[in-house]
Amino acid sequence: MAVDVILGLQWGDEGKGKIVDYLADKYDMVCRFQGGPNAGHTIKIDGAKYVLHTIPSGIFREDIINVIGNGVVLDPITMVKEMEALEKAGVNFWPRLLVSRKAHLIVPTHRYLDAASEASKGLGKIGSTLKGIGPAYMDKTGRNGLRVGDLMAPDFEAKYTSIKEKHMGLIRLYPEIAFDLDAEEQKFFECIEKVRKLKFVNSEYYINQALDEGKQILAEGAQGSMLDIDFGTYPFVTSSNTISAGVCSGLGIAPNKIREVIGIAKAYCTRVGSGPFPTELLDETGEKLRTVGSEFGATTGRPRRCGWIDIPQLLYTIMLNGVTQVIITKLDVLDTFDTIEVATDYRYDNLISQELPFDIVGKQIDPVFRAMDGWASSLDSYRSYDAMPEKARNYINSLEQLLKTRISMVSTGPEREKLFGTA
Ligand code: GDP
Ligand code: IMO
Ligand code: MG
Repeated sequence: MAVDVILGLQWGDEGKGKIVDYLADKYDMVCRFQGGPNAGHTIKIDGAKYVLHTIPSGIFREDIINVIGNGVVLDPITMVKEMEALEKAGVNFWPRLLVSRKAHLIVPTHRYLDAASEASKGLGKIGSTLKGIGPAYMDKTGRNGLRVGDLMAPDFEAKYTSIKEKHMGLIRLYPEIAFDLDAEEQKFFECIEKVRKLKFVNSEYYINQALDEGKQILAEGAQGSMLDIDFGTYPFVTSSNTISAGVCSGLGIAPNKIREVIGIAKAYCTRVGSGPFPTELLDETGEKLRTVGSEFGATTGRPRRCGWIDIPQLLYTIMLNGVTQVIITKLDVLDTFDTIEVATDYRYDNLISQELPFDIVGKQIDPVFRAMDGWASSLDSYRSYDAMPEKARNYINSLEQLLKTRISMVSTGPEREKLFGTA
């Protein structure tokens, strides 16, 4: 009986999907606990590439149950697109995909409101994925939301109309933006027909019963800890708790049931959208990381901002999550760098600190870098960690010391098999 957690330690896109898919094998159930279709989790199996947005990344493992938890916001339109892609790939998810009745729904006007809100912010925009995440969580906390369980209510259409009318009142306050509400609404009602065929559950009971029966559960995070609504670089964050605390509220799992918290971090750092990024490289080195690492958003296709790995930032998220082990991904992206930099401290307000300041937005932070030798060779052919070049292992050892946390695995490619234990 145990729950392990996989979550991102940076600003998202750390490679969580790949790691969840790889490790899912050892579990009975994979459960998403927050976020929604703003997530894009990429999985490469046997040369085929899949991108999941709402469906948990354990779906490609036969016999494993996948649960969309109450903390998730679900858009029936994206959900159906994902379901169709899986059907096309021959994945029979129907008996293995369960949805919490308490998960909130994203309706078309949530996306409309998201776009209007971003447009009204001008240069101060968050760089949202425009999937309606913020407005849907606002309706949840504002106690206006529609939930998956409501799809089965005889008066669902009336409930939908009521929330839509509330939204239209707000939309009139924003500048004009193009949105074909009639077409989106028609799609929405078509898609909910298919979503209604999924198995809806009282997932908090379902999950706790499974735990009582000795089942092993893997909780899958979305976004990254630096996008957490409370602890991220506010206001440039998403609208949910992306840290391990979100597992408890997003699945109904008590804190004492959590065993391992596995933090995923890239061997460098990226961010998509606006907001502070202390180690960002705006030069050709940043461009090289973006090109070699194919750093373009899995959900929006936007170029990701790139920079060196940031130790104060990672120490912060390791602390917040209670991380028990770290997995470093995309180590291969550093293959062609003669020198690799690591930000060990921050310099701001005439002091050197590893603490992220409250006013990180707008404050000039100068990272203090330590240069390390790169291994300057391809990691592609290695099939064990021990066989990898000494300089690559030195880099990992240094990170382990700086982070004061065990690095249990390294990933050297997008494919399932390119993941190696360090022990
Ligand atoms: P997630 O949101 O955390 O699941 O990550 P994304 O899927 O958005 O972005 C990670 C990207 O890196 C995807 O394109 C993955 O296929 C790819 N990827 C994952 N691990 C590795 C790795 O070790 N090396 C390389 N080169 N790519 C990787
Ligand atoms: P995965 O799960 C990277 C970013 C957006 C924007 C901010 C708010 O793939 O790691 P939102 O749509 O939530 O209103 O956007 O958060 N963002 C992500 N960045 N990976 C993600 O998910 C993200 N989900 C949201 O770019 O800056
Ligand atoms: Mg992603």
